[in-house]
This record gives sequence, C-alpha cells and structure tokens, in this order.
Amino acid sequence: MCGIVGYIGKRNIKRWLIDGLRELEYRGYDSAGIAVMKEGEIHAYKAVGKLVNLEEKTKGFEPEGPGAGIGHTRWATHGKPTELNAHPHMGEYSYVVHNGIIENYRQIKEELEAEGVAFLSQTDTEVIVHLFEKMTKTHEEPYAAFKATIARLEGAYAVLLMSKKAPQTIFFARKGSPMIIGKNAGGEIFFASSDAPLIGEATEVAYMEEGTVGYASPEKIYAEPDALQFVPLAGDKLTAQKGGYRFFMEKEIYEQPNVIGDTMIGRVLDEGVAFEELGGDFLEGLTRIKICACGTSYHAALTGSYLFERQAKMAVNVEIASEFRYKEPLLTDDTLFVVISQSGETADTLEALRMAKAAGLKTLAICNVDNSSIVRMADATILTRAGIEKGVASTKAFATQVMVLWMLSLFFAQKRGTINAEGARREVEAMDRVPTVLKEALTVHEKCKRLSKRYLHGHGFFFIGRDIFFPLALEGALKLKEISYLHAEGYPAGEMKHGPIALADAELFTVALMPQTLLYDKIKSNVEELSARDSTILAISPLPFDLADDFVLTHAHDHPMLEFFEMMVVEQLLAMEVSIRLGNDVDMPRNLAKSVTVE
Ligand code: M6R
Repeated sequence: MCGIVGYIGKRNIKRWLIDGLRELEYRGYDSAGIAVMKEGEIHAYKAVGKLVNLEEKTKGFEPEGPGAGIGHTRWATHGKPTELNAHPHMGEYSYVVHNGIIENYRQIKEELEAEGVAFLSQTDTEVIVHLFEKMTKTHEEPYAAFKATIARLEGAYAVLLMSKKAPQTIFFARKGSPMIIGKNAGGEIFFASSDAPLIGEATEVAYMEEGTVGYASPEKIYAEPDALQFVPLAGDKLTAQKGGYRFFMEKEIYEQPNVIGDTMIGRVLDEGVAFEELGGDFLEGLTRIKICACGTSYHAALTGSYLFERQAKMAVNVEIASEFRYKEPLLTDDTLFVVISQSGETADTLEALRMAKAAGLKTLAICNVDNSSIVRMADATILTRAGIEKGVASTKAFATQVMVLWMLSLFFAQKRGTINAEGARREVEAMDRVPTVLKEALTVHEKCKRLSKRYLHGHGFFFIGRDIFFPLALEGALKLKEISYLHAEGYPAGEMKHGPIALADAELFTVALMPQTLLYDKIKSNVEELSARDSTILAISPLPFDLADDFVLTHAHDHPMLEFFEMMVVEQLLAMEVSIRLGNDVDMPRNLAKSVTVE
C-alpha cells in the first residue's frame, strides 16, 4: 500500500527520499514521486512504475540541503496509476502526499470546483492541498490553515504537506494510517510509513497516535493533542537487506528456523508455556474464542482453531475480517476476541478489532509489528517476533503466527486443566524441535527447483489436506497464486467428491499434503480418487505413494505440527521456484500490496 517518506536536513534530499522510498517498495506501488523545497522553491518529480523511472526523471537534480522534502509510492485506489494521479499533488504553492482514503473528497472537490479551483488528478488526495491553500486565505498562520484543513477530512489518512508559505517546514497528520517521525543528534528529521527507511538513520522515533496533527522544522517539532513520545530505534541497515539471497522471500524462508526460535524464547519452558503478556486471570469468564484476520493471517487463524478446540476445549469461530465488519455479528462477553495481523495495519482487521472493543469484549492481538495500530488498540498483544518481512508473499510471519497459536492453545489448555503434565511435556518437546525441522525442511530446495519446471502451465492447482493440513492447503494455494499468477485453490480433501473433482484431468495439478500422523488413510483415498480421474499428483509425504506423478519426501515425525511446519516450507519453496521460472517479480507481485491499509 502507499508509502510515505519525508526529510528535513542538510543532505542530498532527493537521494534520501528515493532511498527511503526504496525501503518501502515491499508495500507495493505503481507510481512514485517526490517534492523538494530548497531556498524558497519547490521542485517536484513523478513517474509511473518502479523507482528507477523516478531516478531517471530526476537525473541532474542534486539538491544538497538545507531543505525539506516529501516522497510517496502510490498504490492506486482512486484513479488509474498515471503520472497525473501520482503524488505529490500540488496547489499553487504547496505539495501534499497522502496514504489512506478521504471519504468526503467528492463533497470537498465540488465545493472547491464551484469556487474556481481546477483539479489535475482523479485522486481523493488532491482536495487536501487545494483545501489547505483555501484555508491560508482565512488563517494567517500556515499551521492554523493546515489544522483547519485536517479538521474537514473524513476517512483515513497519513499526510505530509509542504508549502512555500512555511520554508523548511513539514506539516503532518495521522488518522487510521501509520506515520512515524524520527530524529537524530545531527538535527535531521525523518518521516516514514514504517520504520524500514529510518533504521540506521534516526536514533529516536515516535509512532504517531491516532488524531495527531503537527509540524516539524529545524527549530521545532510540535504535535497535538498529545506531545510525541520518542523512543530509541534499534537495528541497522543490514537487517533490512537481502543478505545474498535472490529475493526477500527466499531470505525470509531461510530465516524461519531462527525467527521461530525467537518466537519461543521465554515462552516455551520445560513443563509448558508461559506468556508474560497475559495476566494470571486473563481467561477469567471466557469460554469461547473468535478470531478475525485476512489472507495468510486468516489461514493461521484457521489452523489455530483446530488446536484450541483439540487442546484447550474452547469453542472457536474464525472469520475473515472484511466479512465480519459488515455482518452485524452477535458478540457475547464470554468471548475472547483475537485478531491476527503481520503488519498490524490491515484496515479490515483493525475495524473488526474496533467493533469488538466497542462491544466490550476482551481483545488480544497476535502481531509482528510493535506499536502498530492494531497493537495499540488491543487490550493485550503477543508479538510474533518474525522481524521485518518484506516479501509481499508472507512466509516467516505465517510460521510465527502458527507457532504463537500452538503455544497459546497449550497455555489455555494448562490454565483450563484440559491437558495433563505428560501431555504438556510432549507438546513442549515437539515445540523445541521446530527450529531443527524448519532447517531440515530446506534440504528439499533443490528438489523443488527441479520440480517447478513441470508446473508452469495447466488449468489449475488443487492443494488438498485434512484437519490442520486444510488451512495449510489454503495457504499453499494462496502462495502459489500470489506470485505465479496461476490459478490455485485449497480444499479440505474430503470435499473433492462434492464438486471440485469434476475438474480433474491430466492438466489439473493436485498438491496433496499427506502427513503420516493425521488421517493418512483418509487423505490417501481422496488422492486415489483424483488419480483415478487422471489428475497429475504431486504428493508431499514421509510415506511412499505409488500413484504420485511427483513426490517430495518429508522426514518422519511423531507430531502433526512438525509435519505441518515441514510441509509449509515445501509449499513456500515450490511457489517461489515456479514464480522465478515464470520470470515474475517474486517480492512485489502485480496488483498486491504488503500492508493493506484500505478497505
Ligand atoms: O498484515 P496482515 O497479516 O494483516 O495482512 C493480511 C493479508 O493481507 C496478508 O496475509 C496477505 O494475504 C499476504 N500477501 C499473503 O501472503
């Protein structure tokens, strides 16, 4: 989704803005632009497509400071991805960049047009800059004009605005879309939609609260209604780079053994699981769980539902957040409301959380980004500790979400007395083996690379599994379709005979998840039925299977979750290798954004 950067200081402002935008590329975009204010003049450049096009356009423009600048990568919502629709949008003497959606933009636009203002773009954003310039006519101070502008906006926004009326100043506002401000001892001030561009640049950052409005200049940073709370920013540039891998997705798949270890630290103990984030009486009065999430996080939630019901004997209901928010759900106060989100900014999930809070439910977020909007809204949070995930196709974030849900189900089971000491010990032993299993799973990478050449065509893929391997089948299909653009669907294996099997022929590829620890015979007969109808079968299993056309042999494990994690890696590697062979952009697939901050 759109990315915003801003800078005040003495460096080459263009360079910092473009480098900063590059750090936000993973969010997805289709055009980009910058505006640089120096010695009372503002210079703006925009380009459709990747940042190299913007670099090409700005060749020869090397503005050393002091000055200020704003930059933007746009993921089209209102209007096509054209240069005119790209940000920054300009008025007569001001420029704005915006992330989010201005819901009442039509009304404001009509008002302004009636007063003679000409609009250049089809965007909702452009109203902000014209409204600001209108307000400067009735407000002497530019900041007062900016505040009055923001007060008129309905919807979601993170906004940076520069005007010749306020040299070396950036006005900012945030509601519903994230915005971070950073600073360092050299007097430089930075803005960004996520902390990736700020790592190694700012030493302290403040995550703006909902409703923040303010301005920054070399002399002063001012915000209201609450002062900004700066905290140290850890990390260095290396953590955010590819480190020798071809793609971020590949790096992130290979990071899984380590990050899963981080997820477990201090939580998986000898005799069971502990979460210091959850107080001793956290479950008091709660008998059921409702989980809301989107995409991959929804698949993690579905996996969790099997674990909670099996181990903690709690009734679980999982819903896609975009459906939940409009269905007038029945919420009872014996329900723990859980949201799962990698980014912590997904608009639908955030809204679901807001509704649950308004209904008075106890809420828990499982999230990868501390200080994100979801984390700040939830009553309690369990951080997944996956580290920055840049590949649009989620991998390590999913692994850590599932790990948290597995640990949480054991935690709840212990609290509710639905598991005995021996059972808990067995779970813990299995959990301790996950990092090793994830590492061993990577040994099939070469095999997946070779297999991928046979799966570049066909009329579709079925990923099938049962029990927790059903959500894993959904996830395998999503991974493949996101980055290969091939049609893939996940199904519970037992559903085949109720319709989907009608599609079976030699050009229908079935990826069968066949664990030995869970319902092996059942899934085997489902796969046999597909094979009898000539579907091409790729079996993933520790047990040989004669009818498979292709086979990925996994290790023998004695716990379904260990088989789950190993098969997850196979699915990820296969999807990535198919995408590479098709020549697609693995990390930034078409039409997708990493952080979906609009409905
Ligand atoms: O940040 P979130 O986990 O809330 O994002 C939800 C989905 O948009 C996300 O999982 C999406 O499906 C990924 N691209 C999947 O790889």
